[in-house]
Formats: sequence, structure tokens, C-alpha cells
Amino acid sequence: MEILRTCAALREWSRDERNDGGNTIGLVPTMGALHAGHASLIRASRASVGFTAVSIFVNPTQFGPNEDFARYPRSFEADCALAKAEGADVIFAPSVEEMYPAGAATFVEVSGLSDRLDGNSRPGHFRGVATVVAKLFIASEADRAFFGQKDAAQISVLRRMGADLRLATEIVVCPIVREPDGLALSSRNVYLNPEERREALALSCAIRRAEELFASGERRGDLLIAAAKEILAGEPAIRIDYVELVDWATLAPTERAGPGSLFAVAAWVGATRLIDNTVFP
Ligand code: PAJ
Repeated sequence: MEILRTCAALREWSRDERNDGGNTIGLVPTMGALHAGHASLIRASRASVGFTAVSIFVNPTQFGPNEDFARYPRSFEADCALAKAEGADVIFAPSVEEMYPAGAATFVEVSGLSDRLDGNSRPGHFRGVATVVAKLFIASEADRAFFGQKDAAQISVLRRMGADLRLATEIVVCPIVREPDGLALSSRNVYLNPEERREALALSCAIRRAEELFASGERRGDLLIAAAKEILAGEPAIRIDYVELVDWATLAPTERAGPGSLFAVAAWVGATRLIDNTVFP
């Protein structure tokens, strides 16, 4: 499995593979510290396209000044081993200077949506995400790119970007992979001490509670939100960032849950910010 370091090399690889028998190209964008959630995306790509590139790049522009960019977990060797075991064909691991050349002044801003949910709590976050993903789509010329529903607001922002820029890369969304007890897998789970790891379960419990209420016929957003907040409030060490019911496409708040509405939670467990969500059927 080859490791590519430049956008030019990624584009050349993609064009070579495509021309080699009309193959399709898949891209799995990641920030590394790969876990079973990322592995599920690599598998989905393998099942859907001819060749799969996994990008590993801790993107500085999507971190706020007081966030965890410097201490974000980095495990390149293990990531390569996991990607290889899952059948990735190539790893794209550029430097910061490669993705942001000296003097870089071009950013992708998805107005409106970027200020909602995580974008509201993390100003500039989605500008950084949209910018780096646009660069990855352009360099890889991928037919399909695979993302997790885990980062549901990210999906909305990237779909809007793809539609607005008429990008050729189709966005495919894969289900949230969870620990056996329900906690959504996240690279940031390694920050949790054993006590926080137990407290963090409140997020998936809150999501499950909303799902149960929805299944039993409840559609009122305020009641679904109150029920989830009650569960989170049961863990005094947890600080709620947001609990929201929104339209998944626009991220605009909605009063009634229905098909396509996103129920999303973000909360601090100690110094670690975690997110979870469900999309109602
Ligand atoms: P990262 O957090 O590394 O996530 C990479 C991809 O893995 C995202 O699409 C995310 O939704 C997915 N993922 C994470 N946890 C998952 C889980 N438990 N189940 C399923 N999928 C999961 O998201 C990013 O990186 C960055 O913002 C990126 C898109 C790479 C741009 O820098």
C-alpha cells in the first residue's frame, strides 16, 4: 500500500487507476487515529468502487485556537496497518504546507449552515472542514467519498458545498459505529478516564431515549429535547453544549420530528467534547 504525500501524486494515482480499465475511485477522508468507525467507511468504499484512497490529515484550520489540535491523537503507523488490513489501496498523508501552501488565502465558506450546531459552538470549524474536503475532492477526483453519520452537521455542510460547487464527487453516508454499550466510537474517546468513559454513556442513552419516544409516536421536538436533557442532567459531570432537533438538509430547527429530521447532542464530559445523533426514520 503506497503512501502519497502531495496532491499532484494523489491526482496522478487517481487518473492512472481510472484509466486502467475504467475503474471508479473512492475517498475516505480522516484525521487519523483510526478506529472501527473509520474502518467501516473503508469497507463501504471497497464494496462500492474499484480503488480506495484513505486520507490522513489533522487539519489545523478546523480547530479553534483553544482546541485540541496539538494534542489530537496521532498514530500513523497503526493507521496504515488498519487501512491496509481493510483493503485501502493508497494512503494520502500530506504535510500542512502541502495542503496550505505559504500565503494560502482561499477558503470555502458554506454560509448559514456553518453557524449551526457544532459550527455555532466552534466558530470557523466548518470553514476549515469545507476547505480541506474541497481540496481533497479536487486532488483525488474521487467518484465517491465516504463519511460517517456520526458527524451529521458536517454531512449537511459538505452536501451543500458539493451541490453549490457542482463537484463531481458523490457523498455517501455510513451508519454510526458504536461500542457494545452504545458509546459512539470517536478518536477523542481516548481522552476519557475510566469515570468519564462511564459518564459519556449518557449521550447515547439520551439519543436512545429520543428514538424510543419517537417510536412510541412522540413528534414534539420540545418534549424529545427535554427527555434527552433530563438524561444528560443525570450525570452531574456532563455539561450540555446543545440538544437540537433540526432539518438534516438545512440544519434549521424544527418543532416536529419527522422523516429526515436530525436529533443531535453535543456535550462536554470533563475536558472532552463528544457528539452523537440519530436521524428519524
Ligand atoms: P474524523 O473525525 O477522523 O472522521 C473521519 C470520518 O469518520 C468522518 O466521516 C466521520 O464521520 C467518520 N466517523 C467517525 N466516527 C465514526 C463512527 N463512530 N461511526 C461511523 N463513522 C465515523 O471528520 C473528520 O475526521 C474531519 O472533519 C474530515 C472530514 C476528515 C476533514 O478534516
